[in-house]
Amino acid sequence: MTNVTLDKVVKRYGQIDVVRGVDLTIEEGELVVLLGPSGCGKTTTLRMIAGFIEPSTGEIRMGVEVVNRKPPRLRNLGMVFQDYALFPNMTVAGNIAFGLEERRAPAAQRAARVEAMLAMIRMEHLAGRYPSELSGGQQQRVALARALAYEPAVLLMDEPLGALDQKLREEMQREFARIQRSVGITTIFVTHDQQEAMMLADRIVVMNGGVIEQAGTAEALYHRPASLFIADFIGRSNKFQGVVERLEGGEAQIRLGGGCLIRTAAPAGVAAKAKVTCVVRPENLHAGRADLDNAVEARVLRRSFLGDSVDIMLELDGQEEIILKAGRADLANLPENGRLMLGFARRDVACFPASERTS
Ligand SMILES: Nc1ncnc2c1ncn2[C@@H]1O[C@H](COP(=O)(O)OP(=O)(O)OP(=O)(O)O)[C@@H](O)[C@H]1O
Ligand SMILES: [Mg+2]
Repeated sequence: MTNVTLDKVVKRYGQIDVVRGVDLTIEEGELVVLLGPSGCGKTTTLRMIAGFIEPSTGEIRMGVEVVNRKPPRLRNLGMVFQDYALFPNMTVAGNIAFGLEERRAPAAQRAARVEAMLAMIRMEHLAGRYPSELSGGQQQRVALARALAYEPAVLLMDEPLGALDQKLREEMQREFARIQRSVGITTIFVTHDQQEAMMLADRIVVMNGGVIEQAGTAEALYHRPASLFIADFIGRSNKFQGVVERLEGGEAQIRLGGGCLIRTAAPAGVAAKAKVTCVVRPENLHAGRADLDNAVEARVLRRSFLGDSVDIMLELDGQEEIILKAGRADLANLPENGRLMLGFARRDVACFPASERTS
């Protein structure tokens, strides 16, 4: 087990930096998820850690050792990729034993290890099957067991669940989380699925355009997004465009396009008259509440029943279409087809300069 450090890591292809100075330490035993939109540099970063790509500048360390030029097979890594297929001509047990054979582990130790791995992935009864005789989820369990069998120091995974349908994907996320915790291995997991990141990660590192935009726990990113991009990318957000009308005593009053006024904590680096984007989570809007810091009138457009909750689509101020995630009280306060008062607290509004890019 070891920690992994990226120190001002840059990857340049021709004239373009696709990874633009990444600083990150993954602690021993930590599960870090690299999250971000397509093309933001997740796979490139992971492949530099794996050793398939050499950084243009900067340093990658495992423990105190600089590994920039060390070939992948000498880095003591386990890898699971979406397209890193099992060996089709080997059984489940053969696949799991492969890395141990490569490392010339004695036969008795090999057998014991394969047995332990099969138990870990709960597939003892399928040891003799070939990959073509397994489901997608079973194949990914075997790929994980194969990667962990020789007890690598670091586990790297690039969208390992990308090919699975939603239900199986969620089941495998729980399974991965259980196994990673029980083995306690330093893990870097790449995904573009924010729910998957929130489900798995000790810490989420959000990349955007080749840089780390924000890193933190799921809670921190959700409740204290550092930018509009993060507020938009992690969870759902309602966005209101407006102009700062007054700044006073740490409070900002913001005039929305359609005319109504809302109160927020004064956003950093924003002056009076500045254009801003305010963000409120769907669960922080409350139907029929005129007693909160902000009350705006909205018109109900439609509702969607989602099983564990109901989404109410609303039109605010004749302008923006917004979503309210309705609790029991909201549903009781909902008019049949008309206008309602929408309340929300000042502390539930995040506000950013409108010029900020969102992707
Ligand atoms: N060998 C290469 N030569 C030139 N450009 C490359 C090369 N490999 C990747 N890129 C570019 O680098 C950027 C980052 O690619 P990368 O594969 O790291 O993205 P990603 O975050 O993993 O995206 P996805 O979610 O789609 O897998 C992309 O714009 C890609 O086109
Ligand atoms: Mg990728």
